[in-house]
Amino acid sequence: MNIHKVAVIGAGVMGAGIAAHIANAGIPVLLLDIVPEGATDRSQIANTALAKLLKADPAPFMHKKNARLVTPGNIEDDLPQLADCDWIIEAIVERLAIKQDLYRKLAAVRKADAIISSNTSSIPLHELVAGLPEDFAAHFMITHFFNPPRYMRLLEIVTSEQTDQDAVEKISQFCDFKLGKGVVPCKDTPGFIANRIGIFWIQTAIQEAIDMGLTVEEADAVVGRPMGIPKTGVFGLSDLVGIDLMPHLMRSMNRSLPTDDPLREKATIPPLIQNMIDTGYTGRKGKGGFYRLNRDGGQKSK
Ligand code: NAI
Repeated sequence: MNIHKVAVIGAGVMGAGIAAHIANAGIPVLLLDIVPEGATDRSQIANTALAKLLKADPAPFMHKKNARLVTPGNIEDDLPQLADCDWIIEAIVERLAIKQDLYRKLAAVRKADAIISSNTSSIPLHELVAGLPEDFAAHFMITHFFNPPRYMRLLEIVTSEQTDQDAVEKISQFCDFKLGKGVVPCKDTPGFIANRIGIFWIQTAIQEAIDMGLTVEEADAVVGRPMGIPKTGVFGLSDLVGIDLMPHLMRSMNRSLPTDDPLREKATIPPLIQNMIDTGYTGRKGKGGFYRLNRDGGQKSK
């Protein structure tokens, strides 16, 4: 399939998990992040992420023998190394300006037929590529992995009429046959498919739990199975994904939805969510979320 080397930029929750999944498929991956302020190890974020992947709860995300396939680094020093990558996946913070700044750098170093994709959960494709060179835009798409990338089969691929069809075919086949994903092609619509539904889930679950005086455990026990997420439930899933992502998603959907779309009402940030973010309760990556944390960072059931 002509994908022999991949780069993942952003070694956070998603980027690290995606890199591990690709290494597990036997493909070498560069895992790059920013240089942390004052750090002596300039690749500290990627190195820490790599160590965590081998320890992840409940089972490691990556087999030890595959760790040699992941090369941790940082975007400042290692940008030239992207020149021989066949696929570059961006999984950095959900901020359009920061993503576009990175794309301009990538446009300057990528090889002619390299494919670039974003893991964005909410920013429309046309906004991501606005102002970028035509050929870059033709080789750019959204590959939306779900959390955790090792276990979630769904992969949304968002393209436009401008996207090179060979590139779409190449990535779709690679993700299907090499990564074992169920690829769903999506149009460039607000929230794509899964998050459009997800916003309804979480807003409805919060309101119903409050109205009925339910604890999060009770609410998840009731709604988890019918909604097809029996293991974590809606609240557990929100903790896993990161509560701080919700406002980005809601804002982006609000910006892009037609004024008479009924979903607009659901794409409004509830005060409870804003308060949780302001106080650091962003889920498993923060001080906890709807659920408290175990000592090892996992979810506590009671
Ligand atoms: P995160 O906050 O865990 O990690 C983001 C990483 O990007 C951080 O390590 C940060 O240091 C790094 N970063 C920031 N600016 C950078 C730059 N200019 N160059 C290199 N690295 C940079 O974020 P998370 O949750 O992994 O999300 C990443 C992307 O994936 C976002 O676009 C998000 O919307 C999307 N996403 C997140 C999901 C989730 O469950 N958390 C699910 C699906 C998509």
